Amino acid sequence: MPTTRTQVAIVGAGPSGLLLGALLARAGIANVILEQRSGDYVLSRIRAGVLEHVTVELLEQVGCAQRLHAEGLPHAGFELAFDELRLRIALQELTGHRVVVYGQTEVTRDLMGHRAAAGLDTVYEATDVRPHDLESARPWLSYRHGGTEHRLDCDFIAGCDGFHGVCRTAIPAGVLKVFEKAYPFGWLGLLADTEPVAEELIYGHTEAGFHLCSMRSRTRSRYYLQCRLDERVEDWSDQRFWDTLRGRLPAEAAARLHTGPSLEKSIAPLRSFVAEPMRHGRLFLAGDAAHIVPPTGAKGLNLAATDVGLLAQALAEHYGGSDAGIAHYSQRALARVWKGERFSWWMTTLMHQFEGEGRFERRVRRAEFEYLCGSRAAQTALAENYVGLPL
Ligand code: FAD
Ligand code: DHB
Repeated sequence: MPTTRTQVAIVGAGPSGLLLGALLARAGIANVILEQRSGDYVLSRIRAGVLEHVTVELLEQVGCAQRLHAEGLPHAGFELAFDELRLRIALQELTGHRVVVYGQTEVTRDLMGHRAAAGLDTVYEATDVRPHDLESARPWLSYRHGGTEHRLDCDFIAGCDGFHGVCRTAIPAGVLKVFEKAYPFGWLGLLADTEPVAEELIYGHTEAGFHLCSMRSRTRSRYYLQCRLDERVEDWSDQRFWDTLRGRLPAEAAARLHTGPSLEKSIAPLRSFVAEPMRHGRLFLAGDAAHIVPPTGAKGLNLAATDVGLLAQALAEHYGGSDAGIAHYSQRALARVWKGERFSWWMTTLMHQFEGEGRFERRVRRAEFEYLCGSRAAQTALAENYVGLPL
């Protein structure tokens, strides 16, 4: 069997695997990424769009932020609309920080280009990846590529392979503790080359459900609608999407809505999920492989980035002679992850419509929004979580 060796073997070339690879390379640590899909497939997935300043700083550290600074849109605030109430969360004024609207696809494209230019190894279309001997000092991965069975020996394995990946399942069931909550709805997303309805994002709640107006640039919009879990994309013509969105938007915004043919439409279920611990022997989990948040607080991609920031630091310390970072990785990452989980759950609960809910819960939700409108302290709490807690 063809065998190669590296220091850190990374499974998954999503944002967490690619950013980890770049951070390790910068610290002089050799790494190889095994990705089950093709590069084009990875780039075709439309996902997150809001970057915290800590994520931007990590991309700057690896020299991968030039295009982000040239083309990304810094946002100093966003709007919440709740029935007829409107509230601007002044992120910069309340926290001193902004966020940057720059698509996950572009982050991935930049990191891929950077990796290729640096001559770092990525094996795309590596199938049947399996981790072995995690509890030994010599873990390894087996995989198939080009019809042949391969072996990759390493010091450590980083499981950056997303929620449906193989690394988490390699941790013995008795070791892993799982915390999970499924929400009774999903998000239907639409991407279109139309001018965004507003300069800042709008998160909205109405009796008919949640909506989010986001963007990728000044000429490309990204919109989301709360939908039922049994809904099928094929049943949503562009016209039906635009009509439904217009019906949920505040009247003044609805009048400004530009519509056009969709470039992409997809449905994602909403879920909260955490697997503990994030390390077993010489296997580390990072990003969606270890935790999922509902997208309402724009935390998924950002938590993935900060996990790998901590992990790269821990591995650099190891090669520098100290295992303290490795010993504390899971605990340190989870402390931040749980705060992201809490915030995402809270914002999801505040802004969505829960079918079958009683009148009491609806009024409490409205009271919570009214409290937010009247309290600078509550707005600050929201804003500091949204721009990202310190690493
Ligand atoms: P991923 O991006 O999932 O990358 C994992 C990689 O591992 C993939 O490339 C996958 O092909 C590869 N892989 C999986 N299994 C294997 C295997 N066995 N062998 C080799 N490779 C493997 N977040 C937001 O903040 N806002 C959003 O609007 C938003 N929308 C989302 C919509 C969808 C449909 C999904 C799934 C997620 C969304 N997220 C969103 C979350 C955000 O995109 C993720 O948090 C982010 O992608 C996490 O990055 P990651 O690298 O950890 O995982
Ligand atoms: C986007 C997605 C989110 O989940 C969010 O909270 C903000 C923006 C987006 O895709 O643009």
